[in-house]
Amino acid sequence: MDARQLKVEAARAALSHVRDGMRLGIGTGTTAEEFVRLLAEKVGAGMNVVGVPTSERTAALCMELGVPLTTLEETPELDLTIDGADEIDPSLTLIKGGGGALLREKIVAAASSRMIVIADRSKLVETLGRFPLPVEVNRFGLRATEIAVSKAAAALGLEGPIALRMTGSQPFVTDGGHFILDASFGRIPDTRALSDALHAIPGVVEHGLFIGLASAAVIAGDDGIETVYATR
Ligand code: A5P
Repeated sequence: MDARQLKVEAARAALSHVRDGMRLGIGTGTTAEEFVRLLAEKVGAGMNVVGVPTSERTAALCMELGVPLTTLEETPELDLTIDGADEIDPSLTLIKGGGGALLREKIVAAASSRMIVIADRSKLVETLGRFPLPVEVNRFGLRATEIAVSKAAAALGLEGPIALRMTGSQPFVTDGGHFILDASFGRIPDTRALSDALHAIPGVVEHGLFIGLASAAVIAGDDGIETVYATR
């Protein structure tokens, strides 16, 4: 199976967890987009769900395909979020934000009773950190925040280049109007310690470590679907 087919299969398997009447969080990225396409078919066939999109990009796709949308203001508690990930470790701690939507993705996941991650097998890792960690930062004080991130990481024994994410010649701007620093620290043995250290930096809006949010991961490989459940 090619990469796109694996994403479709993961999305299809996750769709079986969606029930009529559910309030959904709808993720961002190429895998989540496959989920939106399949969900739209179900909606077209009469399924009654409503979704909070985790990005303007996902909102646009949902509107195009006729998936009913709501907001967290109207619907602050959700039943289930389905979203992709950039890396997944055995405890279902994730790195997210490769698509730049990590802040809304985390807010939506935290407002959901359950989060199911959909991915192909290439996203599974023993230890997070091969994928650069996205850190969403306020534009004000960018350089000072970057230095603070570097120092906080160094105190935990983590080092590596930190790059301002660009779109062409301009900095990438998130849906919330912030910048993203991609931190290539390599292996992150203590995700909780790094999370706490990053949250203590005033210019950091949010980071892409998702700890204790995913309840299950639906993983598609050439040998079929594997569903991994969080043990907490
Ligand atoms: C978006 O900000 C990300 O968190 C995505 O969920 C993640 O990058 C996975 O994207 P793909 O499904 O495109 O790999």
